Amino acid sequence: MENKAIGGYFELETVSRKKYLHDNLLSLNTARNCFEYILLAKKYKHIYLPYFTCDVLLEPIEKLGLSYSFYDVDVNLEPIFDFSIIKDTEGFLLNNYFGVKGKIVKAISEKIPNVIIDNAQALFEDPISGIDTFYSPRKFLGIADGGFVSSSAKIDLVLKDDQSYHRMDHLLKRVELGAESGYEAFKTNDESLENQPIKNMSKLTKRILEGLDYDQIAMRRRKNFDVLHQFLGKANKLKMDIERTTVPMIYPFQSTDAKSIKNKLKSKRVFCATYWPNVTEWCTMEKYSYRLANEIVALPIDQRYSEKEMEFILKIIS
Ligand SMILES: Cc1ncc(COP(=O)(O)O)c(C=O)c1O
Repeated sequence: MENKAIGGYFELETVSRKKYLHDNLLSLNTARNCFEYILLAKKYKHIYLPYFTCDVLLEPIEKLGLSYSFYDVDVNLEPIFDFSIIKDTEGFLLNNYFGVKGKIVKAISEKIPNVIIDNAQALFEDPISGIDTFYSPRKFLGIADGGFVSSSAKIDLVLKDDQSYHRMDHLLKRVELGAESGYEAFKTNDESLENQPIKNMSKLTKRILEGLDYDQIAMRRRKNFDVLHQFLGKANKLKMDIERTTVPMIYPFQSTDAKSIKNKLKSKRVFCATYWPNVTEWCTMEKYSYRLANEIVALPIDQRYSEKEMEFILKIIS
């Protein structure tokens, strides 16, 4: 083993607190690969997954040649499903939507076997002992990749470290050139995560994670969420019963006018992601998931913003 290089030019300097949120969990390169890790460890043969989710979750399922079937969700984003049919060899993927479904996710996990919790949208939710869970920190933070997995089942894999330096230009461009200039790079870098083998989280991603103030991030997100909820709660078709500890990803505002609201926001440079474009291809109009994909406006509430931006958003909507 070579000794560590000493001297010469500097590397990127980051704040190192030597710890970060979920640093006790196994850290891998993406959330979909954390899902693959669970599928390999549990040797499931069939997976139930929601129509209302992201299509990249099919990557590991198809790679491992597993069969799968979809289920719909109801007005509260809860599964419409007869849990008694789940066999020992079958896994049930359950999404903590937008980070606001912690209560029901816990209740279902206690009740039914073989649950896999998708906390890609609920980074701040604690894992539940004995329940397979995965996370995607890049949905909440300025990093390019990474995933965390919590599972009672372990597999012996010799993993390479991922490398992130070549997929970070969208993060850099957004700082110096603005949101629009970095968007193409964001899409390219996002695509570079497709069909990757399971790897360890990159050193660079871990370094950045070590420098973040998670209490501050949680506090800002909650405050921003509350500001929007106070004004939009009544008009919001989606009713939310959230816990005090909840740290949401976005504010999901469900409206039949979603399309025009999104366009109005976009014209003022407020960008809202669509969750998820694949849903209306996967299912037909009579499924509630279809309606959700068309009606949810995902309003930004993250740590970059404060009351000022929330009021700007509210002014546009009203
Ligand atoms: C609900 C959900 N789960 C999982 C994933 C996959 O996360 P990753 O891109 O880290 O693999 C995504 C989006 O990419 C998602 O929206």
